[in-house]
Amino acid sequence: MFTSEILFLTILVIILGYFWNNRRFWYLIWKIPKVAAFDMTYKNIYNYYFGNTKILFKVLESLFERTKGISIVKYFPVVMVNVVLPEDIKFVFNSKVCIDKPRLMIDLCGLSEGTLFGKVKPWQAHRKVLNFYFTQQSLRSIIPIFNKRAKILMNNLSKSESKGEFNVFHNMTALSLETILSVMELEIDIQNLEEKDRDIFIKKIENKASAVMLRIFKFWLHPDYLYSLSKIYEFERKAEVGCSFIFAPQVVENIREKLKNDENNNNEYEKPKTFIRAFLDPKNNFTEHEIFDEIKTLIVAAQDTSAVATSSTLLLLGMFKDKQEKVVEELRQILGNFNENENLDIEQLNELKYLEMVINESMRLMPVVPLVGRRNLQEITLSEGYTIPINSTLMIPIFKIHRSKEFWGDDADKFKPERFEPEEFKKIHPYVFIPFAKGPRMCLGWRYAMYLMKIQLARILLKYEIDTSLKLEELEYKFSVSLNVCQGYKISIKKRE
Ligand code: HEM
Repeated sequence: MFTSEILFLTILVIILGYFWNNRRFWYLIWKIPKVAAFDMTYKNIYNYYFGNTKILFKVLESLFERTKGISIVKYFPVVMVNVVLPEDIKFVFNSKVCIDKPRLMIDLCGLSEGTLFGKVKPWQAHRKVLNFYFTQQSLRSIIPIFNKRAKILMNNLSKSESKGEFNVFHNMTALSLETILSVMELEIDIQNLEEKDRDIFIKKIENKASAVMLRIFKFWLHPDYLYSLSKIYEFERKAEVGCSFIFAPQVVENIREKLKNDENNNNEYEKPKTFIRAFLDPKNNFTEHEIFDEIKTLIVAAQDTSAVATSSTLLLLGMFKDKQEKVVEELRQILGNFNENENLDIEQLNELKYLEMVINESMRLMPVVPLVGRRNLQEITLSEGYTIPINSTLMIPIFKIHRSKEFWGDDADKFKPERFEPEEFKKIHPYVFIPFAKGPRMCLGWRYAMYLMKIQLARILLKYEIDTSLKLEELEYKFSVSLNVCQGYKISIKKRE
């Protein structure tokens, strides 16, 4: 009895001590309006903590449906501050004190020494090095790689001609994985692998992402020890063993070999041409851990994202044939009698304005990254004068902002690329279209992604007519790290007349 009283008192003192030490945090949080993550029914509570990635998306969708201005949602043990107003989003994306990622993301996503989920210190140094390799000028030298890999895609797609619907996402993921490895100077033929072997890399990275996402919502699995005993941990380990991360050591070994050969051949040292050489350049002081985390980060960031965006665009063009014909008209006008063996160059790609509007509209309706998080390293004041305590988790729900009728009009749920006509787009607040986020931590690879997607889509659409039986309003989504369509990106292709 005596021991249990001591135990009880100790726990009470610890809890009170915690709240006393963090009294300003809780005081400020208490002043902000609350929004419930869900109605407190048993079913909803169960779904929230035990649901799959499809249910998770539904819960988040309904949560942000209720969110109007600055508000907080408490989901034990995290307090999230929802940032949904354009001026607040602008502030958070651009503020030097909101440059960090939420602790939970850094701790649970792994890759803490890489750019995407990295802590501020390695991030600043790495981003400075990497920016140079993602300018339009630097990307010019990798456009031939994009073309070469897209030509292999066309060969592979010919096997699906007039054979009914197939999930084009598998082709696009294999292509983007192969392309990023090739940009890292590792030539691996993934598109031509047997379908079963190809899909292993794809499925496993998807499984790994789902495991990370599900763990974030299961607070009892946050401590590493408890996580290591769980089924999700086992699932994540299995996914990691065979996923595309296995190429990271090969990338490093290959570049080290090339650098050694250059030295032996007395090649004069020049500025590294690819970012992968920059990682290994002693001048940049990357540790071994940082090199591997950065390579894995770029594989993950480049493999899934552009594949989702290209697949979504194809799916939407299959649904909206009139827009598809407009894209083809533009392609014919700009590329003339395009021969499949030719390469598209940067100048031609920059001229494909309607195609760009279509890609933007598809990323608006189906944003690849549906939710981004930031952490403020100092107190900040947002709209209506609310003070947000230091170290808060700030959540920006891109998918909600992109479909908001308040910002986009009553037809926000419709596919209408024309809203990106310069004159129309001027009327929209610049911070309500944020597929790549904005500010210093915006997507490093946005230009890379746009060029890659344009090359792939131009080649596919010049050759094939796209069709699908899926309807936009019937699509269901699931949320791992990216937003995916549950039904799959099912299209059929037929050669154009
Ligand atoms: C359609 C394709 C893509 C979309 C929609 C996209 C979207 C995004 C978004 C929203 C972020 C911000 C994440 C956050 O704030 O938490 C981000 C970050 C990032 N993206 Fe992309 N991305 C795409 C393609 C790529 C590609 C192809 C690469 C690399 C080759 C890349 C590399 C990165 C990196 C390294 C970051 C972290 C930037 C930083 O924190 O400084 N992304 N991306």
